Amino acid sequence: MKAGIVSLLLLLLTCTHGLQRGKDYFKEKVCNEYNILGETDFRSISLVINSRKYSNATFEQIISLVNDMVDLAKKCCTAGADPDCYENESTALSEKSCRPDAPFPRHPGIAGCCTEQGLARKLCLAALKHPSKEFPTYLEPSNEEICDAFKKDPRGFEERFLVEYSSDHSYAPLPILLNSTRNYLSAVRTCCASTQNNICFLKERLQHKPAQAFTHLSNKACALYALLGKNKTTVSYLIKFTQQTPSLSFENARNLAGETSEILSKCCDSLEENCFQNELKLHIAHICNTACGGNERLRTCCSSKDDVGKYLCIYSLPWDKHSQVPQVPSSVDEGACGEDGELDIYRNIYDVARLYTRAPEALLITLYSASQTATSDCCGLPDPKACFAEKDLKTIAPLHALIEKGNEICGEYSDHTYVEFLKRLRANALTLLPPGTVDAEDQVSALVEQRTSYVTKCCHLNAPPTYCGIQVKDPVPTICFLADCIENKS
Ligand SMILES: *[C@@H]1O[C@H](CO)[C@@H](O)[C@H](O)[C@H]1NC(C)=O
Ligand SMILES: *[C@@H]1O[C@H](CO)[C@@H](O)[C@H](O)[C@H]1NC(C)=O
Ligand SMILES: *[C@@H]1O[C@H](CO)[C@@H](O)[C@H](O)[C@H]1NC(C)=O
Ligand SMILES: *[C@@H]1O[C@H](CO)[C@@H](O)[C@H](O)[C@H]1NC(C)=O
Repeated sequence: MKAGIVSLLLLLLTCTHGLQRGKDYFKEKVCNEYNILGETDFRSISLVINSRKYSNATFEQIISLVNDMVDLAKKCCTAGADPDCYENESTALSEKSCRPDAPFPRHPGIAGCCTEQGLARKLCLAALKHPSKEFPTYLEPSNEEICDAFKKDPRGFEERFLVEYSSDHSYAPLPILLNSTRNYLSAVRTCCASTQNNICFLKERLQHKPAQAFTHLSNKACALYALLGKNKTTVSYLIKFTQQTPSLSFENARNLAGETSEILSKCCDSLEENCFQNELKLHIAHICNTACGGNERLRTCCSSKDDVGKYLCIYSLPWDKHSQVPQVPSSVDEGACGEDGELDIYRNIYDVARLYTRAPEALLITLYSASQTATSDCCGLPDPKACFAEKDLKTIAPLHALIEKGNEICGEYSDHTYVEFLKRLRANALTLLPPGTVDAEDQVSALVEQRTSYVTKCCHLNAPPTYCGIQVKDPVPTICFLADCIENKS
């Protein structure tokens, strides 16, 4: 499974240029791929690619789809196949995909694609992709279970692993994902044949740990990029860099964030084997040159021996405890209507992040969106000042309050042991209920549970963005880990 070969397959599955070049282009690519790889590797790569596309599908749905794709290639890609075979069969496959009872993965976009015909429909189906799973579902079995399952049915074990691992890492760049699955399966083959398989697994895991961690990390970073797009990804990293190292100047933080976002735009969909590794070299040098002065832990990361090690270390640094600015930054106002309006908003987010270094990023991103909405609604009006004042009152100020509370509760969570944190949370929740509440115990338990769930998942850098609320649509998010939310409910 060479990357160059993989790239061919991917092209034929996703490349929209095919529309201009016509259907033969696809046939040629698929068949080329099939003939070069052979059936087994073609099947493996198809499993990985479809599990990435349909990360929410069941194993059986993926297998049905891949079975049909392999059958198509087997039937139509041989030397003597009828010239119409590929076109007819792939049309039949796309028709089958459009049937409501199809055994294939489900996707909300399928119905829309099925209103198209011919090549346009196939391209539309090929471009569908599920959003990322924010919480992985694959649990690695014990060594003994791995080898039992592998010995019983080697191919079945491999296929299940390919599907489960790929759907958990559906946004990791394909070459990185393939490398990881290849490493893992090769370790299983070697170690299950070894008489000392525990020692063997230990050794293999140690050796591949950086590559596995990198797969995990690139998956998270690219999923964020896919969710937020380029501009908001820049904002997201502006927040991360600032909350990690609040002494960083605005210019440096913004440059580093812009650089990260640029790298993601280049590498997340790249089929180049070492895109990330190559791009990260310079970026890490910039981080280490500009940010180390104000961050002791970062300095330690920068002394790691290789770039991937440095990056993994930097990425997992916690947020800084100490805020830098003495007073609360103001909201954006009519000043942001100028040419550099976007920059004003960035600077405002930077100021807020520097003050509230432990506020969940999701809340700050919501502030960014609200500020952007304010400028687009208010600038150009006869009285932008009044408009901004109203926006401030209605959406921005409540967000500031929410961010302040988020900072406070995440600070509590970070500063205390979990047991102590729970105790304080419970005591605090009790004070919020009106005296004489009948089922106070139940209400308090429900609240504590709801908040701890949010806090444990969201009170750190690189938290899962959708769960933690980046996509909150309302101008004032109703994330219920804060006191006022309880008050509204009771
Ligand atoms: C994923 O599957 C779950 C359960 O089958 C379902 O509730 C959810 O809506 C699905 N998500 C998407 C994006 O299809
Ligand atoms: C392909 O479809 C056309 C039109 O439906 C038909 O005439 C032809 O026999 C089919 N060819 C094969 C190989 O199935
Ligand atoms: C592939 O995995 C190997 C072994 O862990 C690692 O050394 C290498 O850097 C990885 N390559 C890529 C492109 O991720
Ligand atoms: C993204 O940022 C660029 C540069 O700051 C700006 O020109 C562009 O309008 C922004 N796009 C969106 C959708 O906000």
